[in-house]
Amino acid sequence: MQTPIEQVAALTIGTVESVSPSEIQVLLAIDAPQTTALNTGAPTGFPRINGYVLIPNETGAVVGMIVSLRVERSTFPKRTGMKDFGLIDLPFPLRKLGLTPLGTLIQEKEKGSETYYYKLERGVVAFPSVGDPVLLPTVAQLKSIIEASEPADRRVSIGTSPLAADAQVTVDPNKIFGRHLAVLGNTGSGKSCSVAGLIRWSLKKAREERQRQGRNDRVNARFIILDPNGEYSSAFTDLSDVRRFRVPPVSNGFEKLVLPAWMWNSQEWSAFTEAKPGVQRPLLKRALRELRATDVAKESNSEVALYLSLQSYYRSLVDDKSKGPTAYMAKPGKNDFGQKLHAIGDSIEDYSKKISDHEECLKKLSDRIKEIADSKYKTFTNDQNEQVEYYQAFTTSDVEVAIEAIDKTLEYIPAPPENLGINEDCPIPFKVEDFAIRIKDLAYEQGQMQYVDSLLLRIKMLLSDERLKPVVSPATDVGLSQWLDEFIGKNLGDNGCISIIDLSLISSDILHTVIAVVARIVFEAVQRYRRIEQKELPTVLVLEEAHTFIYRGSDQEEGNPTPAQMCRQTFERIAREGRKFGLGLVLSSQRPSELSPTVLAQCNTFLLHRMVNDRDQELVGKLVPDNLGGLLKELPSLPSRQAILLGWAASVPTLVEITELPEEQRPKSPDPEFWKVWTGEEERSIDWKKIADDWTHIENATGTPPKSTGKSDEEVPF
Ligand SMILES: Nc1ncnc2c1ncn2[C@@H]1O[C@H](COP(=O)(O)OP(=O)(O)O)[C@@H](O)[C@H]1O
Ligand SMILES: [Mg+2]
Repeated sequence: MQTPIEQVAALTIGTVESVSPSEIQVLLAIDAPQTTALNTGAPTGFPRINGYVLIPNETGAVVGMIVSLRVERSTFPKRTGMKDFGLIDLPFPLRKLGLTPLGTLIQEKEKGSETYYYKLERGVVAFPSVGDPVLLPTVAQLKSIIEASEPADRRVSIGTSPLAADAQVTVDPNKIFGRHLAVLGNTGSGKSCSVAGLIRWSLKKAREERQRQGRNDRVNARFIILDPNGEYSSAFTDLSDVRRFRVPPVSNGFEKLVLPAWMWNSQEWSAFTEAKPGVQRPLLKRALRELRATDVAKESNSEVALYLSLQSYYRSLVDDKSKGPTAYMAKPGKNDFGQKLHAIGDSIEDYSKKISDHEECLKKLSDRIKEIADSKYKTFTNDQNEQVEYYQAFTTSDVEVAIEAIDKTLEYIPAPPENLGINEDCPIPFKVEDFAIRIKDLAYEQGQMQYVDSLLLRIKMLLSDERLKPVVSPATDVGLSQWLDEFIGKNLGDNGCISIIDLSLISSDILHTVIAVVARIVFEAVQRYRRIEQKELPTVLVLEEAHTFIYRGSDQEEGNPTPAQMCRQTFERIAREGRKFGLGLVLSSQRPSELSPTVLAQCNTFLLHRMVNDRDQELVGKLVPDNLGGLLKELPSLPSRQAILLGWAASVPTLVEITELPEEQRPKSPDPEFWKVWTGEEERSIDWKKIADDWTHIENATGTPPKSTGKSDEEVPF
């Protein structure tokens, strides 16, 4: 075994010419290899940008990365030995290298054996001096620069390093997912493949490790992929532990993407409805609070539920009265009104049985209201011999009496405190269809009807859009814990480790809101997990096209955050605090210069693919220490599948050739096949009629507002 010192003679390629902490200049010897070095144990490209050289010193050897290569014309070659002054020297090219010091390679003896191995330590203890020899590393040395020395860092292999004798590039999932990863590069540079590969290889390795321990159960991992382009659903078809969600209707292999609107918090509602701070936001919050409280109160039959119910009956009757005779005298209003009175009476009677404190007065109220209804109730037998029920016209005084009776009773029941002890942001289910009605009721009560139209319209739009309704108000509602089971994952990864949320069919109206809500719920879920269990739950949230959802911008603007701003704020929060709770982010973006700086600054590992745009390069340049800037100069010319890994998860910045994913395991984002379609190799028939029909149908559902917003009392669920 040679020591670094002994190798000097064989592998010297030049001498140190100048030294500064950030850059070392090297003058190459004339006989240094021109393109390939053959004396290192295997043919190695040399000299090459981003390649490595060694400068031995007393502790080991400083590892330098080549950041520049140039030729300087000299009047004579640098000759070794005696100069022959009889010769005339012609101008001669001198080759020079610029190096960035990366660390120190030291040689260690394996415990209990005589074999030595190399190990890279971060930092440079002793800088070389002018005149020191510069060596080519041997294959073993090269590999030890790239290959991690800590066992933990050798957990998952993601590719090889073409500049270091194809050494394995490995990462420690704790590091790469634990402190947020940003995968940046132009479209088509291989970001999605790298992300898919990283997830796949990590899980595969974890599974192998379990099997090694004799356990064949599932890997206890959670990856939640927010996939706005719908690329990933086909990438994991060979794995059994994947859940795919898509906007209903869904076909084989997919589950329904649902995100009930009761899960949204008041901020998300405000952003979506563009509620104004003055009147609309307080109303919106109060309505949310009351709806959630009613649900909780109903469970416990409490006075609060009674109070809220009476209040809503009162409002509804007052509303009818204000509409005038059509609401209770004419057809069909009078029948509806009669039925409503009966329903109110029944409901109050129910309460009288459950709440003994007010039994008597509630019974009286119920009797009084039913009496009014009964007095107009008639039946007759029609031609088909069926009994038909109907109500005669009610008088205005009937309505007034009912209103007054409820009002009187309300005085006996203690009003619940304004905040009801319920937080408007707490994800307690309520009927989303009731939301607009409740806001309207409250606005009416406070004489603010004129301010809430736009708010009501946005809420109604959400529920009348055929594509959105199944997502925000699914026919079969899911509970919170069920949602968490499905979208984050069940106990011990029982229903799989990967959850792909295909958002490609979500309309742009609501996309930011959906992403913000999902991300927030995942964040709050792991936050609560830690609070209750005292341990964090390792979870990874993957966001594609991150620049669209976490765009660079300021919060200084007046008024409400827009859904896009809110989305950014949510991710900024996760970026800042997620690590504490075990929530890691993987962001993939083709426009890093448009990404929120707060979020980027919190990313500790970067996988940089080809990047051509100046501004983007400039930005990533700022993310790495000055002396490594040279490495990034290669970014515009990186071939697909190659990337530079740097940051927390990489001991040294490394050019990686990412392991190739077979065709069927790649995320699909097919480029349009112009040529094949032109030449008839691929069929494309058009039926614009079909598309137009589909289109106009959707327009009807979203574009035009419901005819009249004033008739919603018909929807009051009595
Ligand atoms: N690791 C890889 N294995 C196999 N093919 C890859 C890999 N990385 C990139 N590619 C090729 O490059 C193409 C574009 O990659 P993709 O991940 O979709 O890029 P991006 O997400 O940056 O737009 C893929 O269709 C694939 O052919
Ligand atoms: Mg992509």
